[in-house]
Amino acid sequence: MDFSTDPRLDNYCVVGNPVAHSKSPQIHRAFADQFGREIAYQAIAVPIAEFAQTLSRLRQAGFKGMNITVPFKREACLLSEVLTVRARQAASVNTITFSPDNRIHGDTTDGAGLISDLRNHGIGLDGKRILILGAGGAVRGVLFDLYRQAPARLCITNRTLARAEQIRLEFSADIPLEVVPMQNLAGRTFDVIINGTSASLKGEMLSLPEGILAPEACCYDMVYDDEDTVFMRWAGVQGARYILDGLGMLVEQAAESFRIWTGLSPETRPVMQMLRRNPEA
Ligand code: ATR
Repeated sequence: MDFSTDPRLDNYCVVGNPVAHSKSPQIHRAFADQFGREIAYQAIAVPIAEFAQTLSRLRQAGFKGMNITVPFKREACLLSEVLTVRARQAASVNTITFSPDNRIHGDTTDGAGLISDLRNHGIGLDGKRILILGAGGAVRGVLFDLYRQAPARLCITNRTLARAEQIRLEFSADIPLEVVPMQNLAGRTFDVIINGTSASLKGEMLSLPEGILAPEACCYDMVYDDEDTVFMRWAGVQGARYILDGLGMLVEQAAESFRIWTGLSPETRPVMQMLRRNPEA
């Protein structure tokens, strides 16, 4: 694992495995640019067993903050010395700040990023029937934020139903989640379906029944690609009113991290446009 620091600038990074294709460096540099600032932000690939030692090396090296991506968000939560309520509830940390006293402050901005992006598109969740697909870390990380928007119903389904059931049990003290086997979804309707599985990344589609979208429904894929994902194409065939990918969530969660680190609120729309125009940048 290699990294360098620029002593003239504030140093930040994203760590993950894999991380080479992360857009975070360009997003954060673009944010800093808006305020006439220059920051050093690099992507650092960390071997699976070396997250803890990397964290202490980055702290010693004088980094101001770091983003954490798959598969280290839970470990980052365990290693944080100070946690926000939302990070503790989600058991997930995607933003670490090294405070002047050198303590590790952990927060999660994924849920806030998802909610902001939906809001950018005029979609509120109050009173909505929401179906969540998937039962991995991506879903755990956003459940509390979804619940706080006061939906009428929060249902979860997953290929491996036992994992959804496990989530329901873990969150049962705080969130009334309904677990529905995929084949039992037929005959139900939802206003919002959020795909938190990694199926789209493999070009695979879940076996969802036809006709489960309410009129004006929104389908949101938490991942994104240069082209529409299989889930988004399915949503089009099913007549969804809003079909969104996870690029907006990516930029909004980064904006929230940037605010935590700098106290500055960047404009997200131009950065989203930049990434859409130039996905390879
Ligand atoms: P992450 O932390 O990114 O959420 P994860 O914990 O591996 O990753 O979870 C991936 C999610 O995508 C799971 O819900 C997984 O379903 P299983 O629990 O049944 O494995 C889901 N998933 C991945 N590929 C899928 C596919 N081809 N069809 C349906 N679900 C899929």
